[in-house]
Amino acid sequence: MPAAGVDSQMTLVRTVGEVRAIVAKWRAEGLSLALTPTMGALHEGHLSLVRRAGSLADRTIASIFVNPSQFAPHEDFSSYPRREAEDLALLKAEGCDLVFAPSAEEMYPEGFQTSVSVASISQGLCGASRPHFFGGVATVVCKLLNQVRPDFAVFGEKDYQQLLVIRRMVRDLDMPVEIIGAPIVREEDGLAMSSRNAYLNADERRKAGALNKVLAKMAERLARGDDVGETIHFARTALGDAGVASIDYLEVRNALTLESAGSGALTAPSRIFAAIFLGKTRLIDNWPVEPAWQHAPR
Ligand code: PAJ
Repeated sequence: MPAAGVDSQMTLVRTVGEVRAIVAKWRAEGLSLALTPTMGALHEGHLSLVRRAGSLADRTIASIFVNPSQFAPHEDFSSYPRREAEDLALLKAEGCDLVFAPSAEEMYPEGFQTSVSVASISQGLCGASRPHFFGGVATVVCKLLNQVRPDFAVFGEKDYQQLLVIRRMVRDLDMPVEIIGAPIVREEDGLAMSSRNAYLNADERRKAGALNKVLAKMAERLARGDDVGETIHFARTALGDAGVASIDYLEVRNALTLESAGSGALTAPSRIFAAIFLGKTRLIDNWPVEPAWQHAPR
């Protein structure tokens, strides 16, 4: 078996049986495995996860599956970008060893009726505006983890609530895998990379660049002890001034539990969460913030 790298072979499989056969062979050789689940249309954010996976384990596996169960009927399942040939070339260049790209029938054969639901951490934020979403994510990630049985699975902080939902599921269901969170990769103007950025026209793309800057300013204010409610008010106005007409949510929550930060100055490590609409496109981003007392001199 060649070492991972640009000269390595990359195998593409479409069935659970094939994944299991390859994984069994690697396990028999004593090799460790890291999985990066994706929905394809890969960009530098996804590839940073694949590289992280490569640094953690002997063999890296990426999945590409646009999971129908995490889209509501009115959402963009059918128009979601699909670029498999390009994705495979990118993954090969990163030294990925195995790509699992199943069909919907392979993942959800006739008669399928089980779902995984993670309760309170799935509620609020994206769970409020997309009530079906985290059930679909938890179910498909649970399946992928059972199919591949990796030592590590890597997820981006871009989808921070998703990362916490998956951590909770793995803990609650005693799944033998370590969940790794990786930082958000951004465009030059700070816009968090996303497959959905491709939907934006030039005017929307320009406005999208304001989101991360407003979140950074909020973090600065909160870190010096400003009131949470006033900071959110400031940010809503700043986004409006930047031409962002529709805000789905803009909230400050505890970074570990996702409990609302309440009012006054922050008292615990927190995360600012935002979802906005630009035209029909929904974009999300989030930003870490430490309470002021953490910076105070001792
Ligand atoms: P997808 O949106 O394709 O994202 C796959 C992984 O890439 C997720 O862990 C996501 O957080 C990460 N990611 C996306 N953009 C990123 C960025 N700019 N920086 C860092 N990481 C980024 O998330 C999903 O797919 C699906 O819900 C999935 C987990 C695959 C289940 O279907």
